[in-house]
Amino acid sequence: MEIENRKVTREAFFRERDLVLAAWPTGEGLSLEEGFRYQNSLPERKRFAAVLNKAEEEGRVLIQPRAGVALVDEHIKLLKYLEEESDLLPTTIDAYTRQNRYKEAEEGIRRSEAAGHSLLNGFPAVNHGPEACRRIIESIEKPVEIRHGTPDARLLAEISFTAGFNSFEGGGISYNIPYAKKVTLEQSIRDWQYCDRLAGIYEEEGIRINREPFGPLSGTLVLPYISHSVAIIEGLLALEQGVKSLTLGYGQAGNMVQDIAAIQTLKELAHKYFRQMGYEDYELSTVFHQWMGGFPEDEARAFSVISWGGAIAAFAGATKVIVKTPHEAMGIPTKEANLQGLKSTRQIIQMLGDQCAINIAELAREKEIIHREVDAVMSAVLEAGGGDIARGAVKAFEAGIIDVPFAPAACNMGKLLPVRDHQGAVRIFDPGNAPLPDDVLAFHRDQVAERAAAEERDPCFQMVIDDIYAISKGRLVGRPHK
Ligand code: 5AD
Repeated sequence: MEIENRKVTREAFFRERDLVLAAWPTGEGLSLEEGFRYQNSLPERKRFAAVLNKAEEEGRVLIQPRAGVALVDEHIKLLKYLEEESDLLPTTIDAYTRQNRYKEAEEGIRRSEAAGHSLLNGFPAVNHGPEACRRIIESIEKPVEIRHGTPDARLLAEISFTAGFNSFEGGGISYNIPYAKKVTLEQSIRDWQYCDRLAGIYEEEGIRINREPFGPLSGTLVLPYISHSVAIIEGLLALEQGVKSLTLGYGQAGNMVQDIAAIQTLKELAHKYFRQMGYEDYELSTVFHQWMGGFPEDEARAFSVISWGGAIAAFAGATKVIVKTPHEAMGIPTKEANLQGLKSTRQIIQMLGDQCAINIAELAREKEIIHREVDAVMSAVLEAGGGDIARGAVKAFEAGIIDVPFAPAACNMGKLLPVRDHQGAVRIFDPGNAPLPDDVLAFHRDQVAERAAAEERDPCFQMVIDDIYAISKGRLVGRPHK
């Protein structure tokens, strides 16, 4: 399949649209005009992009939970329960819908109705259809985003935008590499060009749809330069299709300086590449994800991880933070646990909001490293694609120029290995084919060597394993047992 970063023509879009809508009965006859009419009728407080922009201007950090259950009324009840403590709300989609398995989602709805509680791990928006989904938007006074993990989200996007949702997470790389095994990048990038083009068509009617590429990727020791490169590429792909509101994300890695540097450089580098590629007319915000790796089972310990994530979001000046719950180690949280995550995050953000920004010397070094890494990767991606960022992205994954640690996708090389340094920052243990400058690679080696010396062991794969489990066992760095 040939792929390029070019705006999908209206003709090609509408040809494809007929097939997209035919995939499930709730898509049949879906009217764009009805979506435009309803979105235009929404007050400012229900418009995601407007609320994000205001927070950016005021330098406030917004908080947003994850939440989704099988049935519409229960889902509305859940969101209402979380509404007061949240600035932004989600509708988290279930795993069947994410894989376009609507028949099984239907079965899950029936069984949930019979059981009297949710037997799905999220909200099956496609099966419920646009009218039922719109009841959510009608019932909630804050903006609501669709959050999922869907390689082919075309029908989900159609139904969501018609229903009145005006923020949509995901992207052709970030919703493939961590979520799918066998979907090709050509396919998922194509299918997401459709989603972005649909957002662009709403934009042509004066309706802003906020788009949020999924920052954390595998959520496991992902170096900032890797997720930044993906976020910037997905941002560029979205801008080309006419998207004007972008929120780029990053998942907390655990070292304070590295995490603050990551959020700050994400914004700087995105502006740099967007403008360099000729895009001027867009709104950019950032999202910080509280720790996405393994959590402690003990709820008091989990609160500590949650609160530290809130603190870093505040120090870094992220526009919003996605909040974890004390039930993270167990699975889908109860509504009470969900609310507790929000409250502990709110408490620390408000306490830190009044303090001035952190500006320690190490921050400049860390930011400089990330800038140099992203510049090296972006130029290799562009070169691989002959100047085309979509083609470049596909080639970059084939060649290991971008290599996401611990990702399930077959199209990801999986040669690069990360490990923590002595201070817990994520560094490179084995670079695989990463096209980084020699002195940057030497820096990573030195940082890892410092830790190894302190632990009286050679840098080894066991360190990587120890690091993966460290936080759930109460530490940042996976030290050997003594
Ligand atoms: N409700 C609440 N949280 C959810 N997550 C996934 N689905 C739901 C849901 N329906 C959370 C997981 C994990 C993150 C990736 O999303 O607990 O923290």
